[in-house]
Amino acid sequence: MIKYIQHNRHRPIGIFDSGIGGLTVAKAVKAVLPNEDILYFGDTARVPYGVKSEETVRAYALEITKFLMDKGVKMILIACNTVSASAKEDIIHRAGTIPVIDVISAGAQAASESGLGVTPTVGVIGTIATVQSKAYEEALIQQLGSVNVIQQACPLLVPLAEEGWIEHEVARLTVKEYVHAFNDYQLDALILGCTHYPLFTNLIADVLPFKQTQIIDSAKSIATSAKQYLERQGGCNTKGSSFNCFVSDRPKRFQELAERFLGQQITKIEVVRDLDNHT
Ligand code: DGL
Repeated sequence: MIKYIQHNRHRPIGIFDSGIGGLTVAKAVKAVLPNEDILYFGDTARVPYGVKSEETVRAYALEITKFLMDKGVKMILIACNTVSASAKEDIIHRAGTIPVIDVISAGAQAASESGLGVTPTVGVIGTIATVQSKAYEEALIQQLGSVNVIQQACPLLVPLAEEGWIEHEVARLTVKEYVHAFNDYQLDALILGCTHYPLFTNLIADVLPFKQTQIIDSAKSIATSAKQYLERQGGCNTKGSSFNCFVSDRPKRFQELAERFLGQQITKIEVVRDLDNHT
């Protein structure tokens, strides 16, 4: 029997996030899978997700899942840790035969493959919702067995990223303040547990107290997981490369930031105000 993914290999990969953060995933996917078409949805009308309740995030995520399914994607990448923490199982259920990969499982797997040794100390920075859910702690224990997990919520980083204040002095001070939480620990690794945070990787690396700490970028990890999955299942596209964006608000602002960050022009960007009634 030909598997779903093989049969539909020329369809796009659907990637979604609350805003521009998932572009760190899209960029990583384009780097490792250059012949794939990508359909990106950024929920710019409702960002940030990380300060909202699990129920609200789940409801948003299921609407977007349906939207991506209606658009005919072959695979869904949950490029948002907050959604992964709150709604992964519901999305998998809703997606049916469409494979779903979430950024938290991918990040935890990357940590387990990075040679951390016995009972490592792993720091996780994420949104309030991600940290409170303890989803990383569970995923890391599942992957590594024995591990010390130290978490720190960094709620101000998402608004700074959405504002495009990526190298701004305010961003530097904010990152420094949050990373202070790890001053008493010799972290073996620090997981960037929010897809907006890779935008601040240089600032984070600069202020980390223990220079041997490996920084694990969950955006890169999910791209690697997607590539491995498609290769294993014979689901790779050979003739794509398009990048189509959908946002729920402020398309110009999104386009400006996205082009700056991706270093390429985005020719197709559409606003979807009503996810239930789109064409
Ligand atoms: N980029 C998202 C994440 O990985 C969410 C940020 C937000 O909307 O708060 O968690």
